Amino acid sequence: MTKKTSRVQPADAPVQGAPRRRLRVTALAAVFSLFALYVAWHEAHGPTARHNDELPITQARADDASQSADTAANAAATPTAVAGSELVKRGEYLARAGDCVACHTADKTRPFAGGLPINTPFGTIVTPNITPDPDTGIGKWSDADFLRAMHEGIGKSGERLYPAFPYAEYTKVTDQDVLAIRAYLNTLTPIHYAPPSNTLKFPFNLRWLMVFWNLFNFDEGRFVPDPKQSAEWNRGAYLVVGLAHCEECHTPRNFMQGLKTSSRFSGAVQAGWHAYNITPDKNSGVGNWSDDELAAYLSTGVSTGVSTGAAPGRANAAGPMAEVVTDSTQYLTHEDVGSIVTYLRSVPPINGGESRPRDQWGNPAVDDVTAMRGTTINSVNGAQLFIANCATCHNWTGQGVGASAAGAYPSLIHNSAVGASDANNLAMVILHGVSRTTKQADVLMPAFGTQLTDDQVAAITNYVTKQFGNPQSTVTVDQVAKLRAQQ
Ligand code: HEC
Ligand code: HEC
Ligand code: HEC
Repeated sequence: MTKKTSRVQPADAPVQGAPRRRLRVTALAAVFSLFALYVAWHEAHGPTARHNDELPITQARADDASQSADTAANAAATPTAVAGSELVKRGEYLARAGDCVACHTADKTRPFAGGLPINTPFGTIVTPNITPDPDTGIGKWSDADFLRAMHEGIGKSGERLYPAFPYAEYTKVTDQDVLAIRAYLNTLTPIHYAPPSNTLKFPFNLRWLMVFWNLFNFDEGRFVPDPKQSAEWNRGAYLVVGLAHCEECHTPRNFMQGLKTSSRFSGAVQAGWHAYNITPDKNSGVGNWSDDELAAYLSTGVSTGVSTGAAPGRANAAGPMAEVVTDSTQYLTHEDVGSIVTYLRSVPPINGGESRPRDQWGNPAVDDVTAMRGTTINSVNGAQLFIANCATCHNWTGQGVGASAAGAYPSLIHNSAVGASDANNLAMVILHGVSRTTKQADVLMPAFGTQLTDDQVAAITNYVTKQFGNPQSTVTVDQVAKLRAQQ
């Protein structure tokens, strides 16, 4: 907080009485930001007409282009000069660790060209093109512009960027690493594509409002190693809280959509998916996983470490985590994954009230098939729907097929999505399927969203949690309808 205030206060403010003044400025800024946010929230939800003073991206870029035409020639010389170098290779690795491609790609044939709509409570933000195209991408950006965007969340023309771009984490990344990423991006094929503009509700379309967001939710500054910790721990911390931005999904948010730092890594629901508690708590988090299992999960999407032995299951990465594994963590070196695990082990455990670990629920079904014989087919009987739709792969007993091999059909018993305290991810998996591509396997579970109605999905979900998982996790037809609309 005090760090922020020093920015608000003029540099040449009188020294005498400064502490008090600083306090007062802080309080004033706090009150004003709360007020602004309050007004903002009401405006967005009230019946008032929508304003839109945001410059369309293309227009802004056109203005930009004419201003900096002279520096263009300069910038254009860079791409080929650095191609192939070690720097570029390192930049590629780091860009993967930061998973830039996940958000900046809407269409796989146009990697890094943006256009992906990101839904926020305040409207839709569309990711920009970060290929070196001079007109629609960042070809005309200087390295200083790029550093400023990554570290301060400020765009080329000085405009505030929205925190849907995780600069609150990227600010931790060293200049050297940011510039390596830039060097790599410079070698990409420039793609001439201008993504559609944002559709944010007034007043969130006013970028300057982010000044207030930053005041409360953003600490500008590079990662500072902790000399009391090992090099491995520090590397893990640098990755987790910086480039790999695990907290964007795994840390709950406050009413301003900022990260709630008091409950870091304790889990959050975003766009229907529950990014689970990954603190070392034994019941609510991943405290009962072995290091090998955590590392295997990040590298392959399946938690089968060498030490798993007879116990199948724990977790399979689906939804956004499948994307994280596909685009990012599978490429990390053994050492970096190990460092991430070391760091995660050290964060304060947070108990969310669970009485046993997510992956310790359930028994194989023993009698449902016989119980069903002779009964009339009812379109919303969970057991029958399970046998008809799921049992070919997961077995009617729920024990899966192929045990824990890569690409196996996993056991639903002792599976974290089935044993979680809410059934969100299970319903999401049924609706939207699983898709994950790694060096080990192309994993695909079909989506049932188009074949099954909301009440059928609810019936299967409730059958699966009752039979194979946490019987307290249930889902209503209405909840399924909402989850269906996500993604
Ligand atoms: C979680 C999604 C997400 C990830 C991951 C992400 N970005 Fe972005 N990025 C965005 C969004 C959204 C914006 C647009 C923000 C706005 O319009 O204010 C953006 C904007 C930018 C901009 C500013 C571009 C412009 O035209 O103003 C740059 C540069 C950028 N990102 C680079 C990167 C790099 C490099 C990485 C990987 C290290 C990365 N981003 C990862 C979502 C993401
Ligand atoms: C884009 C959002 C997102 C990001 C970024 C993300 N995660 Fe996840 N994570 C999820 C979701 C959603 C799940 C649940 C997946 C499922 O149910 O299959 C999950 C699951 C997990 C699990 C398994 C928990 C369990 O009990 O099943 C671990 C471990 C994990 N994430 C670690 C990480 C780490 C470490 C990072 C950073 C390198 C990270 N995640 C980044 C969304 C994310
Ligand atoms: C064609 C085979 C197939 C069918 C049919 C199928 N699944 Fe799956 N299922 C898979 C595969 C493959 C995975 C992912 C395995 C992995 O992640 O390695 C999976 C994963 C899962 C998971 C774990 C997701 C997580 O996040 O941990 C659950 C739960 C699940 N399926 C439930 C179901 C249910 C319920 C049905 C019926 C509606 C069903 N499956 C039908 C193949 C199938």
